[in-house]
Amino acid sequence: MAMIEVSGLHRSFGENHVLRGVDLAVEEGTTTVILGSSGSGKSVLMKHMIGLLTPDRGTVRVDGEEIQGLSEHGLARVRRKFGMVFQSAALFDSLNVFDNVAFPLVERGGLPRREIADRVHEKLDVVGLRGIDDRYPEEMSGGMRKRVALARALALDPKIVLYDEPTTGLDPIATEYVDEMIVSAQERVGVTSVVISHDIGSAFAIADRCAVLHEGAVVAEGTPAELRESRQPFVRRFLALWYQRR
Ligand SMILES: Nc1ncnc2c1ncn2[C@@H]1O[C@H](COP(=O)(O)OP(=O)(O)OP(=O)(O)O)[C@@H](O)[C@H]1O
Ligand SMILES: [Mg+2]
Repeated sequence: MAMIEVSGLHRSFGENHVLRGVDLAVEEGTTTVILGSSGSGKSVLMKHMIGLLTPDRGTVRVDGEEIQGLSEHGLARVRRKFGMVFQSAALFDSLNVFDNVAFPLVERGGLPRREIADRVHEKLDVVGLRGIDDRYPEEMSGGMRKRVALARALALDPKIVLYDEPTTGLDPIATEYVDEMIVSAQERVGVTSVVISHDIGSAFAIADRCAVLHEGAVVAEGTPAELRESRQPFVRRFLALWYQRR
């Protein structure tokens, strides 16, 4: 079943027609990577998936439910299915690791402190971080911060995790860690993941399927192996540049 289904999505900002009929299906339990150049509309597309932006035309279905026209209450319910890892990691600087990951649980309320601690440690375990509860974000590397951000995104057991450029700005080793963590979150927790990237190496390492966004539409979609063989001109160019720079 498609966990997320985007159909005929159009969205302009003034004269800037960013999304021009995007069609995309993300199957449950898979990792889909959305590739595209800077400014191609990847973040705009992702914001439509959680209803932070509304389309001019077209629909988004999440877990079988069309999200356009939902009330604030309905939208809040759909958003609880998502965890988000923002590009900047966006941890709270004044909170240590434990409290950062505990934050969504504390905010939602209703859980005893013991249970919160168990859940926090379970999520930190998924991202391979132990014994660093008391560290503050400024005391950690960029890669570690991303992993804490993922643990926080997993805190409420979301069905879907969205990652906006999780490896941008990281060195190759940290990139590999973060890639492994995304795969491990999928394998251990069974989440559906959507990853935005312009790093083709990362994309091919983690993706079940990739979708290439160009000039407002998905111009190619398939497994990494299929994409490598693609005859689509933009995909060929995008891949050729990447091979050159490696
Ligand atoms: N809230 C907004 N208001 C006006 N224009 C916007 C808004 N959000 C995005 N845009 C425009 O939409 C286009 C696509 O932006 P978007 O952030 O989706 O690109 P992107 O593919 O995520 O790029 P990058 O890889 O650099 O993050 C850009 O031209 C941007 O200026
Ligand atoms: Mg972006």
